Amino acid sequence: CGIVGYVGSKQAYPIIIDGLKKLEYRGYDSAGVALWSANKINVFKKEGKVAALEEFVKNQDVTSTVGIGHTRWATHGEPSDRNAHPHYSKSENIAMIHNGIIENYASLKTELIKKGYEFKSDTDSEVLVNFIEDIKLNNNCTLEEAVRIALKRVTGAYVILLIDKDLPDTIIAARKGSPLVIGIGDHEHFLGSDASPMLAYTKEVVYINDYELAIVKPDELILKNLGNERVTPFVQKLDLDLAAIEKGGYDHFMLKEIFEQPQTIYDSFRGRLDVEHNTIALSGLDSIKDKLMAARRIIIVACGTSWHAGLLAEYIIEELCRVNVEVEYASEFRYRNPIITSEDVIIAISQSGETADTLVALENAKKQGATIFGLVNVVGSSIARISDAGAYTHAGPEIGVASTKAFTAQLAVLQLFALKLAKLKNTISEDRYVHLLHELNAVPEKVQWILENELENIKAIAIKYRDANDFLYLGRGYNFPIALEGALKLKEISYIHAEGYPAAEMKHGPIALVDSTLPVVFIATKDSYHEKIVSNMQEIKARKGRLIAVASAGDTITLELAEDTMIVPAADEIIAPLLSVIPMQLLAYYIGIERDLDVDKPRNLAKSVTVE
Ligand code: G6P
Repeated sequence: CGIVGYVGSKQAYPIIIDGLKKLEYRGYDSAGVALWSANKINVFKKEGKVAALEEFVKNQDVTSTVGIGHTRWATHGEPSDRNAHPHYSKSENIAMIHNGIIENYASLKTELIKKGYEFKSDTDSEVLVNFIEDIKLNNNCTLEEAVRIALKRVTGAYVILLIDKDLPDTIIAARKGSPLVIGIGDHEHFLGSDASPMLAYTKEVVYINDYELAIVKPDELILKNLGNERVTPFVQKLDLDLAAIEKGGYDHFMLKEIFEQPQTIYDSFRGRLDVEHNTIALSGLDSIKDKLMAARRIIIVACGTSWHAGLLAEYIIEELCRVNVEVEYASEFRYRNPIITSEDVIIAISQSGETADTLVALENAKKQGATIFGLVNVVGSSIARISDAGAYTHAGPEIGVASTKAFTAQLAVLQLFALKLAKLKNTISEDRYVHLLHELNAVPEKVQWILENELENIKAIAIKYRDANDFLYLGRGYNFPIALEGALKLKEISYIHAEGYPAAEMKHGPIALVDSTLPVVFIATKDSYHEKIVSNMQEIKARKGRLIAVASAGDTITLELAEDTMIVPAADEIIAPLLSVIPMQLLAYYIGIERDLDVDKPRNLAKSVTVE
């Protein structure tokens, strides 16, 4: 979910709506605002995207200089008007928005029901706001005090913002496990799940830590811990600019972000990859060098697309560095009691730096003595902050819900990481090292080539296959993770069922699906497995599957074999996935467009999953 707040002298409603639109990538099944006034707190909320809320609020009085807003990704309770946030307390004197999950809400609810409380929604959040009000009334205390008492009884993750009719010009906020940023303006403050809602007004922000509570007024920002002691706000200056989070002439963020990749990959190399002196600078790696050199194994922890980057990193690091690597889904890793020692180094991969499963998996591993290296895109995010060392991917804000440029930036930095470690461990020859450095350096240009030369071809392929019910994506070796990523992109964007599989393994099941209606995408760039994958293509062709291939320029065998081909420039096999994923992104995008879908905000998904 995305949350926004404003206190100051400007009109709060337009600032909140604009902020919610910037945070819609975090969830968009319903939206709402609560606006303070001396007589009553007004809540407006509606199922659907923020635009539906705006339509609903049209012609209503929204005059107010204090307000909070929410865009939801449903956890407890279906998407609907009544489950949308903000939630009133029983007296309607308090309104609250919440991002996260209150795990013990059921017992709190039972307690409140016994006291005569009734609930209008199915949410855990409505339970919490009533629990807070109940404490406030029983103890005859301030809202701040009631929040503090309540949070000591709550388990789970949350960011909450509250306004109280009896508390003019004030927002009370608190966090544990979900992100909260407060922007400092001129006699005004902004609150958000990230900094994007406040970028147009201020660059000075404070990232709130877990177990902190903020009392936010136009001229004052008081931070306290749950023990009621003052904490000094640490003010940071952002170097993001507004243009980075706008569409800049493209129809969709996803397309803009696909096209940004020559630049973002270059940015992830900048100051790191030096082909003049054949060196790689990664200060985060240096700072845990001894741990890495002695590590028994490296464990990679991630979710979603970031997990795919991790899988490729496993192949590359094992090949180049001769060290054991395991790749784990964070959601499994955190619960399955894994064996972790102080000799393990964990690489956490996360675009947002806020994915709840990844974050908790790391906290657990850290307690057991592991060293954490964070590969994160969002600067200052929770995962970045709990890591012992790390590297930012420098892809810039990624707004499209399906990850594209963040993924290639992750791959790019992981390649640098593997090469640098291999050099330190002396597990790579000087020639291969120098060759791979130059190959990496050429990637931005080669990505540009694909975008310039293959676009129309890929659009035509998208039109041809847009009505398919299923897709199979196959790859071997370094291209296996790209097959998984290609299938995931298609599922996310076009709602077509797609499976990614190791090309040879398909004989053990998926081949039963093959008939003359099934498009099968082979990621078949020239590598040491090429002859093998050509055989797999033959096997599909013999069963009349519709063969689509991603092939290296100059590969006539694949060109002849496949019904449709997407060409990428030739590259070393370790580097090639950075190129072969580009047609996969474009194919998913154009099929989504052809099916008239909202590619930036696919149904049911959210960009940043801050619940487990
Ligand atoms: C969500 C997003 C994916 C992303 C995954 C992990 O599912 O929709 O695009 O790959 O979360 O997110 P992270 O921010 O940790 O990379």
